[in-house]
Amino acid sequence: KRKEILPNPDCHPADVTFKHKSANLESSSQTGAQGGSVAKALLSDGSFHVRAVTRNPRKRAARELARLGAEVVKADLERPESLRVALGGASAIFLVTDYWELGDKEREVAQGKTVGDLAKKLGVRHVVFSGLEDVSRLTGGRLQVSHFDGKGEVERHLRHIGLPATCLRMASYFENFIEHFRPQPEGGGRGGYRLEIPMADIPMDGMSVEDLGPVVVTILKNRSEYVGKDIGLSAERLTVQQYAEVLSRQLNRSVRAAEISPEEYEKLAFPGAQDLANMFRFYRTRPERDLNVTRRLNPAVLGFEEWLSRNLHHFADL
Ligand SMILES: NC(=O)c1ccc[n+]([C@@H]2O[C@H](COP(=O)([O-])OP(=O)(O)OC[C@H]3O[C@@H](n4cnc5c(N)ncnc54)[C@H](OP(=O)(O)O)[C@@H]3O)[C@@H](O)[C@H]2O)c1
Repeated sequence: KRKEILPNPDCHPADVTFKHKSANLESSSQTGAQGGSVAKALLSDGSFHVRAVTRNPRKRAARELARLGAEVVKADLERPESLRVALGGASAIFLVTDYWELGDKEREVAQGKTVGDLAKKLGVRHVVFSGLEDVSRLTGGRLQVSHFDGKGEVERHLRHIGLPATCLRMASYFENFIEHFRPQPEGGGRGGYRLEIPMADIPMDGMSVEDLGPVVVTILKNRSEYVGKDIGLSAERLTVQQYAEVLSRQLNRSVRAAEISPEEYEKLAFPGAQDLANMFRFYRTRPERDLNVTRRLNPAVLGFEEWLSRNLHHFADL
């Protein structure tokens, strides 16, 4: 079992702050999908003092975390001086950087490195970083996936500076089916729906972002076991045909897997289509995402059908 977690002796420190109530640990997180999931799981666990970091403490998600017991702190990853206060005194940090807001790999890398360097300076004991593979490096520059590559560069930096870190590589969120992978109507909906995901018959890993939080709680509570590891997360690995079958069953609609190649996908007229096409090309190489380790870290992790059955309201208009 242990070897399923890639050992990563250099891996070091992460965007949430927590305090372990019983052991005087302090830890910090964000208000978005990943950060929010982690902050809520930590608050529900009850062992941590949670500091949620946001640029806007007045936003709804931040107020909700405050209601649940988090200390909400204003800071900006682009303004290192604001981070000193946000991260000061933290024993652990969960860090996620948002490529899609920036659309700029170099800025994403700079944000990640800034937090890593500061965590090192502050003596933070554990950073959990939501990383991904540096696909460009792994493929000798043949394939570039900007929203992966920068995270891989940050992973390397955290290891290089000797931070005690765990690097997680999250599978594609099941939540993507609500928007980005949403079944598209054929013939005005009367002819059913199609999924446009260029994976052919190769299975694609997925997991609800809501299930990330408990994973991070387990890792923080078992620091010595997980520091220095890279862990690929996945709740279930299905082909597009299988995702379509589950959607058909649960939505009571006819959903089929469209035949679409990465070459066709990258020509679709939306920003980021090229980067996502390259991501699918990388997914087709079956990057390591470990179902068993994920289940060990979060025994309640939901498979796709269970997740969908609890989220049917997002598809009520289909
Ligand atoms: N979708 C997927 O399937 C998937 C899978 C693996 C990895 N990812 C990665 O997940 C990342 C996005 O995370 P998410 O889904 O949690 O996004 P999200 O829900 O949009 O949340 C983004 C978070 O980043 C914070 N943030 C952004 N810029 C910031 C800044 N300058 N200073 C401080 N905080 C900042 C936001 O905080 P405030 O707005 O409150 O300041 C917010 O909490 C992307 O990099 C993506 O590549 C996504």
